[in-house]
Amino acid sequence: MLKDSRLLFKLWLKNPRSIGAVAVSSPELAAAMARQVPKKLDGYVVELGGGTGSVTRALLAAGVPADKLVVIERDPTLHRYLSDHFPGVHVLLGDAVHLPNLLRRHEIAPVAAIVSSLPLLSLKRSIQLRIGAQAFAVLEPGAPLIQFTYGLFSPLPRERLGILGEVEERVLQNLPPASVWRFTKPSGARAILRKPARHRFSLRGRSKLDYAA
Ligand SMILES: C[S@@+](CC[C@H](N)C(=O)[O-])C[C@H]1O[C@@H](n2cnc3c(N)ncnc32)[C@H](O)[C@@H]1O
Repeated sequence: MLKDSRLLFKLWLKNPRSIGAVAVSSPELAAAMARQVPKKLDGYVVELGGGTGSVTRALLAAGVPADKLVVIERDPTLHRYLSDHFPGVHVLLGDAVHLPNLLRRHEIAPVAAIVSSLPLLSLKRSIQLRIGAQAFAVLEPGAPLIQFTYGLFSPLPRERLGILGEVEERVLQNLPPASVWRFTKPSGARAILRKPARHRFSLRGRSKLDYAA
């Protein structure tokens, strides 16, 4: 873990916005993310922003088979590091912004869950929306997108993406403490990628904030 931390810190010094974390995710945070993955899997688990592999390790320990695990990492040094440390896992060098193309090129489908450590809070809103939309374009209906955040609020704009989401776990044993969110898309919901909705409306039994028109 010390070696992982040193590598991530070195890369963070060079490009803090892109790496997004000074320290690796703690085993407690990684395990909390892995707990949100459905036990009965009917497809691949795609991890976005593998970093040094703490979440990858937790997903394998939680029972995700190596050949059903796909890790996407944009940084070439980290991509090499992950490929060396996780033989048997599909480790792909690429950008989560181009997720559907990347998965299509490697014939990866269906996708039963996405687990993301991407530093969404340091990205522009337009990129957050694009990554969120791409993720739900590849997920099977009802399948979850799991994301941690150091922030107090949702790391994805739920209303504009037409998704539901809430905090499943708060993890204090991480530097800094983090929350694990689980997002899903209700069938029939549409994303509003161009303009934020002007008028919110109420759906019986649901939060006004949770739905797009
Ligand atoms: C917070 S770090 C990962 C932490 C990881 N759980 C760990 O403990 O090492 C975020 C990772 O996402 C990667 N990343 C950032 N933007 C990305 C993108 N658009 N596509 C793929 N990977 C990205 C960064 O290179 C970095 O490795």
